[in-house]
Amino acid sequence: MSRAILRATALTVCALSVACQGPQSMLGTNNPGGQSVEGLWWIALASTGFLSTVVILALAYAVVRAGRAGRSGPDHPAPDVDGIRRESSVILLAGALGPAIFLIGFLTLSVDTGQEISRPPSAPTLTVEVVGHMFWWEIRYPEAGVVTANELHIPAGETVAVQVSSADVIHSFWIPQLSPGKIDMVPGRTNLTWMLADEPGTYRGQCTEFCGTQHALMSMRVVASPPEDFERWLDRRTQPPEVPSDLELRRGLSLFSQHGCDACHRIRDVTPLDLIGTAGPDLTDVGARSTLGALAVENTPETLGRWILNPHIYKPGVRMPPTDLSEEDLAAMVAYLRSLDP
Ligand code: CUA
Repeated sequence: MSRAILRATALTVCALSVACQGPQSMLGTNNPGGQSVEGLWWIALASTGFLSTVVILALAYAVVRAGRAGRSGPDHPAPDVDGIRRESSVILLAGALGPAIFLIGFLTLSVDTGQEISRPPSAPTLTVEVVGHMFWWEIRYPEAGVVTANELHIPAGETVAVQVSSADVIHSFWIPQLSPGKIDMVPGRTNLTWMLADEPGTYRGQCTEFCGTQHALMSMRVVASPPEDFERWLDRRTQPPEVPSDLELRRGLSLFSQHGCDACHRIRDVTPLDLIGTAGPDLTDVGARSTLGALAVENTPETLGRWILNPHIYKPGVRMPPTDLSEEDLAAMVAYLRSLDP
């Protein structure tokens, strides 16, 4: 029995400590909005922990007392009915007043925090648009005319305005270390939030509204770079990719359209469907991205090849169908896509 309790305690401590660290933790952020939410979270944890302890102790006391009262004998006199009535009134009053005071306190604090985090800490220097899709993220830099997917680059130390919406179902945008909280991505509506990375680094976000079979694998990488590096990154993407002179790469490009990949995926100024908001991620800079399928798997020539043949091995339920390609054709297509690295 004691060993089972020890194991359960160790497991709980491990689970709690794992949840408190890592690139997707909402604790220990340097972002003012995140700090306000974290402050509220600690107050909620402390007060609900206190209330739970009081309730458990009262319950234990009641069980012990009821056990004693159940016994008969000269040491255990008959119950005092008036005393029980008095105690019941106290319990009823405390049971109604206690939660009411706590709930009103929480409501006031959360409305206050909500108002505080809705205001960006400084004037935004950049606007990005993020569109949720089943099950990936479309990322647009409207001022530069740049579109990418699943990896959001921002300048560190600057407030970024984020406009979120959805192309299909309701998703939710949340970068715990950088954004002030979760915000719903609703079809036909644009919601506004902001992000701020105090320091350069790589952060992680996650869709937090159940959106279908691949909801759990709808993650996002956020790269915050020094502003000069970010400007260079963005600038390189304002130029369309060059038409390859290498014959193998050209073959890869023609196979890309022969197999209908360009019906869903855009490559800027290369594919005929030069629209923003296509069914699959924009591939203009796919060779430079570190993952495939919204962080489902690392982006390497091998995983890219396997993804093209059958993306369902990495992401069951993804909307992209398998593609039938010979080994040589697959190698050419992979080589072309890997060359899309501005
Ligand atoms: Cu998108 Cu959950």
